[in-house]
Amino acid sequence: MRLKPVALTLLLTVAVAYYVYVPLPDAIQEPWKLMMLNAGFRAASQMATLKAWLGLDHYIRSIRQSTEGFEGMINGLGTSEPGGGVMPGVKVSDITFAGIPVRVYEPPAGGEGHLRRGLMYFHGGGWALGSGKKGSYDAINRMVSDELNTVVVSVEYRLYPEVHFPLPYLDCLAAAKHFLSPEVLAKYAIDPERVAVSGDSAGGNLAAAVAQEIAIDDTATVKFSIQALVYPVLQALDFNTPSYLQNQEIPILYRPVMIRFWLQYLGADLSLQPQLLVNNHSSLHHSAITPELRSRVDWTALLPPKYKKSYKPLVVEKGSQGLAKEVPGLLDVRASPLLAGPEVLAKCPRAYILTCEYDVLRDDGLMYARRLQDAGVMVTNDHYEDGFHGCFSFIAWPLDFDVGKRALRGYINWLQNNL
Ligand SMILES: *[C@@H]1O[C@H](CO)[C@@H](O)[C@H](O)[C@H]1NC(C)=O
Repeated sequence: MRLKPVALTLLLTVAVAYYVYVPLPDAIQEPWKLMMLNAGFRAASQMATLKAWLGLDHYIRSIRQSTEGFEGMINGLGTSEPGGGVMPGVKVSDITFAGIPVRVYEPPAGGEGHLRRGLMYFHGGGWALGSGKKGSYDAINRMVSDELNTVVVSVEYRLYPEVHFPLPYLDCLAAAKHFLSPEVLAKYAIDPERVAVSGDSAGGNLAAAVAQEIAIDDTATVKFSIQALVYPVLQALDFNTPSYLQNQEIPILYRPVMIRFWLQYLGADLSLQPQLLVNNHSSLHHSAITPELRSRVDWTALLPPKYKKSYKPLVVEKGSQGLAKEVPGLLDVRASPLLAGPEVLAKCPRAYILTCEYDVLRDDGLMYARRLQDAGVMVTNDHYEDGFHGCFSFIAWPLDFDVGKRALRGYINWLQNNL
């Protein structure tokens, strides 16, 4: 009789450990914390799948609910109302820029005639999740505003499933153009020579795409002077780069999950996922994908040997007929900034690109760094050998990671010296 609770506890412990445990590379520090975080995401995703299957809620909307509940639980502070928080000097206002909701963080005014720096931020979350007003994004933007004496504008662009490409991009572009207008810069006392665009993950994709568009827009009198991209998503032609293969099972961004985010963003059928996993969508059969376009995402030429290891490129001779047509926007540079030509890249602002070794998107970032450099743009690439996708957002107890704090510190230091 007395053994039963012990046996039950043991059984439960084994079951939990089995659910939580994932093998991780030795270089990843605080592995159990990452496993717990991953188990949280997995549970949310399984719950969402179940709810979607029962017809109770959209998959993405129930994930949002779980992650918001989760964030609320761990932070407990609910920084979602403007003015709340730990930086009393920073003024926070929720307003709109050209009809797009934004949150503006203003450091204390520096006196008459004193100009400040500006930074526009696009949050990550696979173009489907997250908010600049919640969780660590709010905390990071307050910190940047306070420490760098910078006006930060965080953009609440629309997300999937409410909209898909190009609307999230167009929201960001409209907000950016409004921000860069001489009247708005004057209103916030921002130096037009010192305005940055930045974002992480899907937000890094939007930042890179918006930076390109503004760079080639002859009517834009003020342009971004720098771009800071944190593990950006940059291309959808090759899901078999060395980093996609090496890190396909590393939490928290699994390879099929990133492909799903792409299909959602581009408004394509989610059942295409297995075909994209094997690069069927970019087979040689598709004449619209010219050799020139392919060379722009060719990791065999663009990556340093250290990252290529013994991986082999996967170029499919003959994929399923018409597949490229079923993925609208596949070749649109506004969705895949890595596809832009050298003449566009040459006009782009100086770049900071943060990459993590244990991230399917590592090679997207490394290839973009190389191509910008080849086009004559100055690039700083901070590569975290022990980094994983998302670490930049995990800086608050109890889900704080040392590598996340170092990554954030490196980002802020670069902005301090270069913006
Ligand atoms: C990829 O395309 C080939 C050629 O059409 C097809 O035989 C194969 O089943 C496709 N792979 C997947 C995973 O759909």
